[in-house]
Amino acid sequence: MPRTEFIATAFHVPERVVSNDDLAQLMDTSDEWIVQRSGIKTRYWVSDGETGASLATQAARKALAKAGMRAADLDCIVYCTCTPDHFEPGNGVFLERELGLTDIPAIDVRNQCSGFIYGLSVADAWIRTGQYRRILLVGAEVHSRGLDRTTRGRDTAVLFGDGAGVAILGPTDDPARGVLSTHLFADGRHAEDLWVDAPGLAHDPYISEELIRQGKHRAVMDGREVFKSASLLMPQSVAAALAANGLAPADITLLVPHQANLRIIEMVQKAIGLRDDQVCTNIQKYGNTTAASIPIALDEALCNGRLKRGDLLVLTAFGSGFTWASAAVRW
Ligand code: COA
Repeated sequence: MPRTEFIATAFHVPERVVSNDDLAQLMDTSDEWIVQRSGIKTRYWVSDGETGASLATQAARKALAKAGMRAADLDCIVYCTCTPDHFEPGNGVFLERELGLTDIPAIDVRNQCSGFIYGLSVADAWIRTGQYRRILLVGAEVHSRGLDRTTRGRDTAVLFGDGAGVAILGPTDDPARGVLSTHLFADGRHAEDLWVDAPGLAHDPYISEELIRQGKHRAVMDGREVFKSASLLMPQSVAAALAANGLAPADITLLVPHQANLRIIEMVQKAIGLRDDQVCTNIQKYGNTTAASIPIALDEALCNGRLKRGDLLVLTAFGSGFTWASAAVRW
């Protein structure tokens, strides 16, 4: 069976940069509070006319150019997002249309911050079995329009940003390279610890002025529970990836963790016992872009020359659900 390799990666963020001081104009917060609690200094927000699919399209075009491929060379889209442009259909078909494609499958993965690794796991299985050979894996989010940008929503509004990151994946016959393993976890007992209640068909009607008045259409979270669980479970997922491949923390060239919060990443680094140069962070600039955070960080790391052939890349993520996941990749 072939392994799955990363053929190209790319990302795209909107032009509009939003600083912590900009947020302090909208709500009762401060640069000091946000930096101290999360490490975030800026994030990007979409402007009129931009959508998740339009960000993903820009990122996909950049990746295709890097790979020297045309959109027609793709044979499947795996689109990971928790902020779709519409209730239905999924965003994959909108991206497919923007790329001028009409006859390849497009699947949406709704696993929030773990979405990109869940999507990688699906794509990896398809590539290894030969079902598809050129998969466009996308993580893209538009959080800004869903945030409560008032003091009521300040605990979440300051954390999230918009953006899209993609990877083009394909088979390699080199047994020493590619995705070594993926590890997926979920625990629905925590479903309401980080969630958006409405619109949802558990309600009748599924959206109403009353639900909106109650703020049920906004993301709400138990920040402390999320923090505690993420700090515990991301290291466990990395341990699972290392154990499955007979590897140790010292073997990791680069850990690209989901960029949820700089303090969480620091806890994860400490728990695994990694040096600073083994861990990738860029949350300072982009905030938490959920399913987009890993491919954005990975592409930046590659542009900065942080991975070379034969290096060990480990990905880990945690998010709403709770879901968490990891992957080990021999570059
Ligand atoms: N600016 C200023 N003050 C804020 C604020 C903001 N943006 N958001 C909340 N506060 C206030 C709270 O209202 C609270 O005030 P009070 O003490 O008067 O009630 C105070 O700051 C402290 O809140 P607390 O919840 O104790 O802070 P914390 O240290 O737990 O940090 C988070 C809050 C959200 C930053 C932290 O819990 C966290 O990072 N959790 C994980 C979030 C995450 O990563 N989510 C995505 C996972 S994929």
